[in-house]
Amino acid sequence: MIREEAIKRIQELRQELEYHNHKYYVLAQPVISDYDYDIKLKELQKLEIEFPEFFDPNSPTQRVGSDRNMEFIQVKHKYEMLSLSNTYNEGELRDFDNRVQKLLMETAPYVCELKFDGTAIGLTYENGVFIKGITRGDGEFGDDVTANVRTIKSIPMKLIGDNFPDEFEIRGEIFMSHFAFEKLNKQREENGDPLMVNPRNAAAGTLKMQNSSAVAQRGLDCYLYYMLGEKLPSDSHFENLRNAGLWGFKVSEHIKKAQNIDEVWQFIQYWDKERINLPYDIDGIVIKVDSLSKQRQLGFTSKSPRWAISYKFKAERVATKLLSVDFQVGRTGAITPVANLDPVFLSGSTVKRASLHNADQIAIFDLKINDLVYVEKGGEIIPKIVGVDLESRDQSAIEIFYITECPECGAELIREEGEAKHYCPNEFSCPPQIKGKIQHFISRKAMNIDGLGEETIDLMYTKGLIKDITGLYDLKKEQLVPLERMGEKSAENIINGIEASKNTPFEKVLFALGIRFVGETVAKKLAAAFENIDNLSQASFEDLIAVDEIGDRIAESVIKYFKSDSGKNLIDKLKVAGLKFQIEENNIQKSNKLEGKSFVISGVFEKYSRDELKDLIILNGGKNVGSISAKTDFILAGDKMGPSKLEKAEKLGIKMIGEDEFLEMIK
Ligand code: IVH
Repeated sequence: MIREEAIKRIQELRQELEYHNHKYYVLAQPVISDYDYDIKLKELQKLEIEFPEFFDPNSPTQRVGSDRNMEFIQVKHKYEMLSLSNTYNEGELRDFDNRVQKLLMETAPYVCELKFDGTAIGLTYENGVFIKGITRGDGEFGDDVTANVRTIKSIPMKLIGDNFPDEFEIRGEIFMSHFAFEKLNKQREENGDPLMVNPRNAAAGTLKMQNSSAVAQRGLDCYLYYMLGEKLPSDSHFENLRNAGLWGFKVSEHIKKAQNIDEVWQFIQYWDKERINLPYDIDGIVIKVDSLSKQRQLGFTSKSPRWAISYKFKAERVATKLLSVDFQVGRTGAITPVANLDPVFLSGSTVKRASLHNADQIAIFDLKINDLVYVEKGGEIIPKIVGVDLESRDQSAIEIFYITECPECGAELIREEGEAKHYCPNEFSCPPQIKGKIQHFISRKAMNIDGLGEETIDLMYTKGLIKDITGLYDLKKEQLVPLERMGEKSAENIINGIEASKNTPFEKVLFALGIRFVGETVAKKLAAAFENIDNLSQASFEDLIAVDEIGDRIAESVIKYFKSDSGKNLIDKLKVAGLKFQIEENNIQKSNKLEGKSFVISGVFEKYSRDELKDLIILNGGKNVGSISAKTDFILAGDKMGPSKLEKAEKLGIKMIGEDEFLEMIK
């Protein structure tokens, strides 16, 4: 194909595909099959490879994202990104209306919108073409997440028609539908990854992922609700949003113009009930003065506009019967009472179980089996019991018997002073604790053993192949192959992964042991301070608490661990297996030379990896931060530092140092 023909076809295909994206993702009215769509996409991909000179970042082919890792650059918002003040009841809402009327000296029609529960985004368009997408950040500066935004198919890369302003910004909410959220969590469960708490966190986390092709797979969506610019089509916010819809943006159909606050209140009451039927979360209603000139007249306070307010819904709460209480033993031996409930529908899903946290919780509520309890979904995955209806209690109520022995191993439970939870002390021979310890041991931030997941550990333990973490190092490939869903290749990967884990640095090994209260940071501090396991195991209480950030509780736990026979045995076996129990030479270097200084690392380096440099900064008392701001002291710059980072550093006048200069600082 000759060039002229190619560019013609490329443009044709891009336009067509963009049209189908809009039909599918914005209007939910597809006009061609997925198959036909794919054929067109493939044709375009092929042409773009053949004629790379016609590359366009906004091409539909770019919506699959890239697996290049990127760092987000902070950019200043052209218009500050403020938030809204909240109201929680009708009275506060009417106060808002009175303020507005008093300032304007007349009534003002309002626009009522759903308050989408996701993460805010500002999109810039020039001449109908998508330019960039910026998160809220601190309102003044946000992260440039353009590459990730391109993967959200309901966001148009090219606008339809021609009556849009040359330049404008449109703001909206990036969110995850219930469907996409459940799909994601199901996948995470299968992979043994921790579950996402709610769609909002999932959306915000996804948008900040470093790898845009992963973002593309997560099904983010976006509703737009606020247009900013010099030459907007209308003085009416409502009309502007209607126009945005015509240009191809996804604008909610649940928008209503209200002539007065009574109509606003009706809208709120309607959606307070109806919201459970939406396929995504909303956490309230946003009320805005429709006229832009009136908005200008009202202006802003330092934090939020005077022309808009949000009305927040109360967390949804349902009543149901408490059927029984189970007791779960966690990885650390902590006992959690879990309520089994008469199944009830709550904010988008059926709830059968709820957490009761600890014995106090049961006592405070004076809870009994067969009581009517109130359940809410909070920030956590598992809903919680927030109250009990004592008045409706009858003869059927049965006392809850709080266990005194571990339901898994029979050991007598203990409850230490000042602690809310009961514990099973049988750390080394209570099955969930052993399995939990192994799972923690192999996890990414600990020994990071490839190919091993929760299910496999479960299986290996149940089949008696391993009894504790030391057993991993005695495993043979032949023992693994017969396991369900295993096979030669996976077994080999696991064995190789276990072998490779012997090179894991001491501080990670220490973290991997799962000593109570010894998290990642504490492990790093202890490793740096004591340098090897022998010093650490002999350290006295005083030695331990002398280390920065190590308190009584941690010190006691460390001492207890190294005094116990099981702890000693385990370490001995792991030593024989060849694990690292000594800090690397170059990690020992430590001082307070960088105290109070914050560093941003960017680029690639010759002598150390970025992670090693991070450790060096911390070991020498400095702080490593992710993005450049006016508060950054130094940029530790290597090769191939991103151009926009460079620009920002120069603009803010932040000192840039190279690897050698940095090493000199800590020498
Ligand atoms: S308007 C200056 N409209 O709620 C007014 N915000 O605290 C800008 N939100 O940051 C916001 N749905 O992330 C507006 N229909 C809606 C919204 C909405 C959700 C979010 C947004 C904003 C926060 C306000």
